[in-house]
Amino acid sequence: MIVVAGGTGTLGTRLVPRLAGAGVAVRVLTRDMARAQHLTGHGVEVVRGDVRDPASVTAALRGAGMVISAVHGFAGPGRGSPATVDRAGNANLIGAAARAGANFILVSVVGAGPDHPIGLFRAKYAAEDMVRVSGASWTIVRATAFMETWATIMSQMLEASGKILVFGRGDNPVNFVSATDVAAMIDRAVTDPGLRGQVLELGGPDNLTFNQVAAIVQETTGRHGTVRHIPRPALRAMAWPAAGIKPALARQARAALVMDTIDMTFDPAPARRALPGLPNTDMPSAIKELLA
Ligand SMILES: NC(=O)c1ccc[n+]([C@@H]2O[C@H](COP(=O)([O-])OP(=O)(O)OC[C@H]3O[C@@H](n4cnc5c(N)ncnc54)[C@H](OP(=O)(O)O)[C@@H]3O)[C@@H](O)[C@H]2O)c1
Repeated sequence: MIVVAGGTGTLGTRLVPRLAGAGVAVRVLTRDMARAQHLTGHGVEVVRGDVRDPASVTAALRGAGMVISAVHGFAGPGRGSPATVDRAGNANLIGAAARAGANFILVSVVGAGPDHPIGLFRAKYAAEDMVRVSGASWTIVRATAFMETWATIMSQMLEASGKILVFGRGDNPVNFVSATDVAAMIDRAVTDPGLRGQVLELGGPDNLTFNQVAAIVQETTGRHGTVRHIPRPALRAMAWPAAGIKPALARQARAALVMDTIDMTFDPAPARRALPGLPNTDMPSAIKELLA
């Protein structure tokens, strides 16, 4: 039995049917059963739980041979945050998996580190540290930014208002990977015991600026609009803790500033050489798949 926390998300929705389709028993842990409705047709068991609640995590992991953490608390809502979900929530999952004798796959981010300027990246690093010493057999899968996440945000803005908002100048290259490719890598980590105890990093074929992503979204969807920028000073004002902005929004403004300024590029070649055969989806193909 594989338990997937985060099975309802962008990545989980691509991963769970893939695992279930290969004949593996899959259980998805969600805070809201309605969010997992699209997965039940795949013969997947769904249980209600919250990674912040240790009792619900222990119950969800009963009988698990493998646990996959694809959760994050970056975007909220409410009290969900990198501290409560990515750090404390993953601690609950890792502890329960170790007690159950289950293997653990942690989905993390390329660049995770103890001093990273984005809190999510620090929380992911803390979770990586925890899983390494947990006693559970582990694999860490680090990914760059998901194409589907950003293309969806932009195309929804375009549809709703005819505008795409780009945070900052939008001219800093960032590596984007398709969640479909990440699901394929996790599938590999599930089936290949030789990948236990390894940190696998996956990126996509291109480093793209947000201005380029905005152009690709318009070109591929055939829907054109205006690109507006939220200037860096406005992001700084939003990111200031005392500005009265909701914590999740302030967190996003802080992350946007960092993504607009630090090196977010990634060379995917070494990982792809080490694990040949993984799909290598580009941004237009990922958007076409979303449209389909
Ligand atoms: N999006 C990216 O650009 C990106 C890049 C690199 C790595 N990653 C990592 O990839 C993984 C999947 O990301 P995603 O973008 O696919 O996520 P997503 O679509 O935003 O969905 C978030 C998932 O986290 C679950 N979750 C959040 N708080 C939870 C809680 N307290 N208890 C239980 N589940 C909770 C949600 O489940 P319910 O709402 O059903 O409870 C949902 O399935 C995450 O680990 C993320 O950090 C993402």
